[in-house]
Amino acid sequence: MNKGRIFSGMQPSGRFHLGNYMGALENWVRLQHEYECFFAIVDLHALTSSYADTSKLQENIHQMAIDWLSAGLDPEKNVIFLQSHVQEHAELALLLGMLTPLSWLERVPTYKDKLRDLEDSGKDLHTYGFLGYPVLMAADIILYKATRVPVGEDQSAHLELTREIVRRFNYLYKQEVFPEPQAVFSKAKVLPGIDGRKMSKSYDNTIPFGASPEELWERVRMMTTDPARIRKTDPGHPEVCIVHRFQKVFNEEEVENITAQCRAGEIGCMQCKRCLANKMNELLAHIHARRKELEAKPGYIKEVLEYGNQRAKAVARANMEEIRRAMNVL
Ligand code: AMP
Ligand code: TRP
Repeated sequence: MNKGRIFSGMQPSGRFHLGNYMGALENWVRLQHEYECFFAIVDLHALTSSYADTSKLQENIHQMAIDWLSAGLDPEKNVIFLQSHVQEHAELALLLGMLTPLSWLERVPTYKDKLRDLEDSGKDLHTYGFLGYPVLMAADIILYKATRVPVGEDQSAHLELTREIVRRFNYLYKQEVFPEPQAVFSKAKVLPGIDGRKMSKSYDNTIPFGASPEELWERVRMMTTDPARIRKTDPGHPEVCIVHRFQKVFNEEEVENITAQCRAGEIGCMQCKRCLANKMNELLAHIHARRKELEAKPGYIKEVLEYGNQRAKAVARANMEEIRRAMNVL
């Protein structure tokens, strides 16, 4: 235990899917046994792109907390909280904004890409808040003096910027207030969706996290298989089959066997899909059940976040004192 302190966050923006779990949350669940962890639902980050319509924000926050708990994040062991309820995040982001050169933000490679992507969706992101997204993220991390940050590879530029801000802060105020945080990339690769593209909300190809056995079977049944295979006795080509890609991730014990049977024309696609759905159910049925339990206890979810907010706040307040002293903002 205790190899250091971890901070990570996720935006509450819509229903969680299996890709989010395999790419991020599963990693967190593992890391909670080795590190002291702070996990935040970053609702302020969600506002940077969804400021115009906040009608679903509270419901999304609630659902994300349920997803985290049903995946097995322990609210005693970890500090699980809501970013906007620890106001030091906003305060530190403002202070860091004073010393962050504009050119650093304009240079973040994902900035212009994202601006273009989201514009196609009708959102106007020529805002101060959107440009400042990585400053807010830096504030999240260094407010707790975290040394490790588990993220997807898409976040590595943001983390590099966090380190640059840390160096600049420590240099300007002549003290080592913050450590330079390191990324911990998840070993899980990108999970494909049921159509073979990256699993993503925007493609409508997801498997909802916490899917019931029926919902799961519905999605597995829709997965495309080798189009050249008409009869069960035709030899299959697993390398072009989506079900095969899922077998590799969720059915490590049987995948070799099933692959051989497929090539030999000894197993039909329906049977192969049944095997996969059964295996995935072993993982998901338990999460689904836990989710159902938690859905019936909205008061408990509120308490968990409230408890986390208090614990986060205690650390944030003390560190903020130190930061103010270093900057002479007394
Ligand atoms: P998003 O829903 O795109 O904001 O992503 C939230 C987190 O889930 C990030 O850490 C992503 O890297 C991860 N993630 C999203 N989609 C996938 C996927 N298809 N496979 C693996 N990880 C994913
Ligand atoms: N930008 C991250 C993402 O979209 C979410 C995030 C916000 C975050 N603050 C963070 C991740 C701090 C790690 C640490 O996935």
